[in-house]
Amino acid sequence: MATIIALANRKGGSGKTTSTVNLADALARKANRVLVVDADSQAQATISCGILPFQLTASLYELMRRAAKRQMLEGELDTAVIRGHKPFDLLPAKPDLAALEIELASASDNQVLLKDLLLGWENIYDYILIDLPPALGLITVNGLIAARWLIIPIEPTFLSMDGLAQMTGILYRINAGLNPDLGLMGILPVKCDLRTNLARSVIREIQQNFGENRLLPPVRPDIKLAEAPSFGKTIYEYAPSCRGAFDYKQAAAAILTRSGD
Ligand SMILES: Nc1ncnc2c1ncn2[C@@H]1O[C@H](COP(=O)(O)OP(=O)(O)O)[C@@H](O)[C@H]1O
Ligand SMILES: [Mg+2]
Repeated sequence: MATIIALANRKGGSGKTTSTVNLADALARKANRVLVVDADSQAQATISCGILPFQLTASLYELMRRAAKRQMLEGELDTAVIRGHKPFDLLPAKPDLAALEIELASASDNQVLLKDLLLGWENIYDYILIDLPPALGLITVNGLIAARWLIIPIEPTFLSMDGLAQMTGILYRINAGLNPDLGLMGILPVKCDLRTNLARSVIREIQQNFGENRLLPPVRPDIKLAEAPSFGKTIYEYAPSCRGAFDYKQAAAAILTRSGD
């Protein structure tokens, strides 16, 4: 059974996409079958994997539309997934995904479409990582209903604490209603320089509010992590011995432990 993990934070630039792609690669290199679902219309996870969104004929957009019309065809899922390009598979996004929020507004059961889609893949993958957009629309709700676990990547600044409080509020609301099983796997500090007072005090505050064990091992600032996507490469393809690669390996190990492997 696949462990489905959503990476979400309402704040943009908080490391969702960087973390999704590099954690997926780190997990895949530990002999896990991994699928990345790019659920952000900015398609940055897709682009980070070296795929040009405008060339795609099939993406998450087409699949969700079809699912909404209850027209899913056998094998349809498989045509959209990009395999053999990375150590993990990718269900790509393209900008059309932005229109989905409006197109599906009146569809019935429009919050469980992604969950239904992924049901067909639960036995094919060990991990499914969903990169969510920085908004609380229908797609994010779909992601949080499909997932068993939530990871909240944050950059440790004081303003990010606000976003963190909002995300946990959303988690409780999803728990109370549409997905009681969704759990907080952890808060993942990124661009986190523990030599600074600011990062240390924000981390301390997170520990006090959420408990020591809700904190995933932090990822330090590393320019290589910002450079890799422009070559369509993960950090393990671009600079496997840099500290970003090391840090995401540590975070992936913590994910393996927490998901009960
Ligand atoms: N540990 C890191 N060190 C340096 N730059 C990083 C790190 N993590 C992310 N970045 C950069 O920060 C920016 C925002 O990250 P991104 O993953 O795109 O956030 P989000 O998906 O939440 O919007 C990107 O330019 C990315 O390359
Ligand atoms: Mg992103």
